[in-house]
Amino acid sequence: MIYFDNAATSFYKPKEVKNSVINAMDRLTANPGRSGHNLSQNVAVEVFETRENIKDFLGAKDYELIFTKNCTEALNLAILGTLKKGDNVIITCYEHNSVLRPLEYLKSVGVEVTILDCDLKDFHCNLLHNIKDNTKLVITTMVSNVTGDICDVERVAKTCKQHKIKYLIDGAQACGHMVIDLNNIGADMFAFAGHKGLLSITGVGGLLIKDLENLKPINYGGTGTDSINLTQPTESLEGFESGTIPTIPIISLNAGVKFLKKNFEKIIEKEQKLSKYLVKSLKNLKFLTVYSTEETKNVVSFNVGKIDSMLLANILNEQFGICVRSGLHCAPLVHKKLNTTEQGAVRISIDFYNTFEEIDCLVNALKKLSS
Ligand code: ALA
Repeated sequence: MIYFDNAATSFYKPKEVKNSVINAMDRLTANPGRSGHNLSQNVAVEVFETRENIKDFLGAKDYELIFTKNCTEALNLAILGTLKKGDNVIITCYEHNSVLRPLEYLKSVGVEVTILDCDLKDFHCNLLHNIKDNTKLVITTMVSNVTGDICDVERVAKTCKQHKIKYLIDGAQACGHMVIDLNNIGADMFAFAGHKGLLSITGVGGLLIKDLENLKPINYGGTGTDSINLTQPTESLEGFESGTIPTIPIISLNAGVKFLKKNFEKIIEKEQKLSKYLVKSLKNLKFLTVYSTEETKNVVSFNVGKIDSMLLANILNEQFGICVRSGLHCAPLVHKKLNTTEQGAVRISIDFYNTFEEIDCLVNALKKLSS
């Protein structure tokens, strides 16, 4: 089996991650921040350490980290918790449905949504001309989950700062694949998933946020704090993490981030080489239309003539044991831009453990199918 669907969920989990899960199930199955006993405190220490490690890895010392169950929930919290009737929000056409769908809902309660259909790398140039008096939020993905294109988040953040507009970055496809220094970028909010580039098991994501003030919670309930008060406490991050948090996924995320910290230089170098090799190899196949460039971050999408992308993905799976993702990748507007709404596209997404030989196997499979 060759796994090329790492943008959905990374397949390879380091042994440190697996061991952390087993260890947590043996010794850390209690509620942090609720009871005062040793087990509860031990879990709380692990969760605290994970927050600090993630903040350190993403250069986010000045941020609060709210744990969520995935990146979608983090984006929902940032969007629904920030925008209100009469506000304008500006986004790219590369956004995932986890941004598009909450915004579609907010349209029905009077939020105005501006979608710029320029290339992701040019978003910062087009942003300025679209800012209005009521623009309250800008949202961009950092890396497209369809093309692997990269957004110039530093320049977007600078424009937002100049105009006192909040900036939310969807970091789902960027984390674990590029050096991120949030303090330096200066965005207000950054959402991430644990189970992709950060190598955790599924069940955890997070929202890094500079300032909790004015953020509305989307879940209400027990926080283990100020329990006499029936009003949700929102002065500290616990107010946004109601209920039992996913402790074992969080602990596995800590192990994933520690692994990345130790090996990051080598990982990035290998991924860059693999990405370039992948694009080059696919572009050499003249019967393919490739939608990504050599600058891509780990993701390459393509089509073969007018063949349905799902059919091609099924054949790659069944006849060659190659796992890819096809269809619209929950990002319908970028497919509209690429003119692939009907056909979708076949997406290859790599991770550091993939090999050049695996890419050669894919190329050979495609050659065989074309002949
Ligand atoms: N958003 C994930 C992907 O692109 C699931 O596959």
